Amino acid sequence: MAGIDPSAAAVAYNRRRDDRPNHRYIQAPAQALPLADASVDLVMCTFVMHHIPEGHREAAISEMWRVLRPGGRLLLADTHPTRWVRFLFGRSAPRPGDSFDAIDIRRYTPSLHSVGFTDVDYAVGRHRTGIMTAFKRN
Ligand SMILES: C[S@@+](CC[C@H](N)C(=O)[O-])C[C@H]1O[C@@H](n2cnc3c(N)ncnc32)[C@H](O)[C@@H]1O
Repeated sequence: MAGIDPSAAAVAYNRRRDDRPNHRYIQAPAQALPLADASVDLVMCTFVMHHIPEGHREAAISEMWRVLRPGGRLLLADTHPTRWVRFLFGRSAPRPGDSFDAIDIRRYTPSLHSVGFTDVDYAVGRHRTGIMTAFKRN
């Protein structure tokens, strides 16, 4: 398992809390994953996409595709912008182009298809989390 985050503090925190020999934490951004091509079975990217600068998000999705082995799976999750979430953060109704559009993980559906993912699905999990799953076919 490799946990990847560009924040030195996040990497240090995880290294302190998890010393399992098959777990490693690496300081790097999602748009430049320091992993070999086709080297992982599963990529999980949770509550991160909206932190990546807009201009680097397509590169991050391409990197997820590159490092997954054929037959591998992707899970991308972020807060699902329900009415309740909007209310909590001070917006009672959706507004086109507002910051909640930025966290809606469904916006990456065309990008996932265009790099080659299949079986692209969306579900809303507990705790108001939007979850996209996709498959890198053999
Ligand atoms: C809300 S936290 C989510 C942390 C963790 N993935 C989780 O689900 O608990 C967002 C994380 O995204 C990281 N981040 C910011 N820019 C990033 C980038 N370009 N690539 C990957 N991670 C990034 C931040 O350092 C932060 O740790």
